[in-house]
Amino acid sequence: MNNQVQIFDTTLRDGEQVPGCQLNTDDKVTIAKGLDALGVDVIEAGFPISSPGDFKSVVEITKAVKRPTICALSRAIQKDIERAAEALKYAENPRIHTGIGTSEEHIYLKLKSNPEAIIERAVEAVKYAKSFVNDVEFYAEDAGRTDNEYLARVCEAVVKAGATVLNIPDTTGYCLPEIYGAKIEYLVNHVPNIDKAILSTHCHNDLGLATANAIAGVQHGARQIECTINGIGERAGNTSLEEVVMIMNQHKLGVQTNIDTTKLTGISHLVSDLMHMNVQPNKAIVGANAFAHSSGIHQDGVIKNRITYEIMDPLEVGCDASSIVLTARSGRAALRYRLQKLGFNYSHQEITHLYNDFLILADKIKRVEDENLMALVDASSLASLKTN
Ligand code: KIV
Ligand code: ZN
Repeated sequence: MNNQVQIFDTTLRDGEQVPGCQLNTDDKVTIAKGLDALGVDVIEAGFPISSPGDFKSVVEITKAVKRPTICALSRAIQKDIERAAEALKYAENPRIHTGIGTSEEHIYLKLKSNPEAIIERAVEAVKYAKSFVNDVEFYAEDAGRTDNEYLARVCEAVVKAGATVLNIPDTTGYCLPEIYGAKIEYLVNHVPNIDKAILSTHCHNDLGLATANAIAGVQHGARQIECTINGIGERAGNTSLEEVVMIMNQHKLGVQTNIDTTKLTGISHLVSDLMHMNVQPNKAIVGANAFAHSSGIHQDGVIKNRITYEIMDPLEVGCDASSIVLTARSGRAALRYRLQKLGFNYSHQEITHLYNDFLILADKIKRVEDENLMALVDASSLASLKTN
């Protein structure tokens, strides 16, 4: 099996479905250029039928960004597919992403239909999309809760109709990693024409398992991951791009991506700024605390050797450096380290002399910054020992 995992970024489509997020066309083009520089293989630029603004954004992205595949979403409805094709008119590498619900919940409760009629609609949609572009991705919405045997029949039929990529979304974020991985493996083994398509993961984070599920999918044969910067998206969000990429880098899973990991922090900040959505400080890889150490035991280790408490070099993900944060949990080693950075080179005895005052201050103000440290030194009898 091929060891290249395609990174399909849907920040501008599923990510943009976050309540309160309003990106204008210029913002979207700026993000698309950033994603291009990051090395993503596919950018899902929008859902053109949904609004004139979204249509325009897809068009402008296809004009501005030429290397990655640009993908437009549609339902399994002719006018959606036509609008997607129209929006992709200028794309160098266009892809239409069409699909329909395949779980019993979707077939009976939402679509008021039946399983056989759904397969017919799916096939018609793929054939119609194929009349506009070569590259057609099919999504089996709510595949996470879809019976595997039926899902395999849907997949076989749409691949026969020309689908190049099979998206297996865990739309509701329901699956456990072993269930999602087994689903992908089942499709690898039971869809007779599976060699003609790539299996793609698309996992939502309702139970906090979106990243784990995407990785389980790859371990069982998926070769495309759909994900978003900072894991943003509908409800609890999607698989986070930076997490899956760094997991595949850290663990030798026998697969690789085209992502330039040194651009991860920059694109995270760009998306957060343009969307006016803060990244939670403890967010893996790109959160403000991802490389910050505040307890005395950890700080002592990191000061001696970074790898005692860090599995990645912050530079690898484009973060300047690890930080030693001073709080009331910090030890003398951290206090000395931070004072050295400010030019104060104190002996163990002198640090001990300052330490009690430091703890009293830290209990009061919680986080001790450089200016607080300077004031602490100035107020002590050690001020004259500054070394530079
Ligand atoms: O979560 C989902 O099922 C989707 C599809 C539209 C691909 O976002
Ligand atoms: Zn989704």
